[in-house]
Amino acid sequence: MAKQQISLTVNGDLYELLVSDQQTLLDIIRTEIGLTGTKRGCTTGACGVCTVHNADGEAVLSCLTHALEWDQESITTIEGLESDGELDAIQKAFVEYHALQCGFCTPGVVMSAKAVINKYPEPTEEQINAGMAGVLCRCTGHIKVKEAIRNTHKIRARDGVKGA
Ligand code: FES
Ligand code: FES
Repeated sequence: MAKQQISLTVNGDLYELLVSDQQTLLDIIRTEIGLTGTKRGCTTGACGVCTVHNADGEAVLSCLTHALEWDQESITTIEGLESDGELDAIQKAFVEYHALQCGFCTPGVVMSAKAVINKYPEPTEEQINAGMAGVLCRCTGHIKVKEAIRNTHKIRARDGVKGA
């Protein structure tokens, strides 16, 4: 099938892209736009490493959605979380609470965690568990990740960054 043009805003930058109906949002983020922070894992919706945000700051599994569906839309990837060189509060929390090891899952886990914080600035355990149910980390485990999410509001208050 012939490719179709879409207009997609990524991290505030507008891209005009020719995409086929075979390409996922993940495909174009990594190969057409060149932002490789978003990882390719299972590609079946089971691991969450491909998570990005839609315009409402909600988590989206980019491996499961066709690129053509994102014409005239806006997304945020892990590269778009920092602001003027300063990490988002959730990113600082992951560093300060040692919530990563190899780092492969980290972009997707951080984006999923940020989506939780967007909805619940001081989330309960149940809200964290529900929001993080779709992401898998094979080396750090989820205890440190949850600790980082629980404490993000303190870092936001301390540093005066947006963080939510
Ligand atoms: S790569 Fe998308 S959920 Fe695993
Ligand atoms: S930090 Fe290695 S898979 Fe999560």
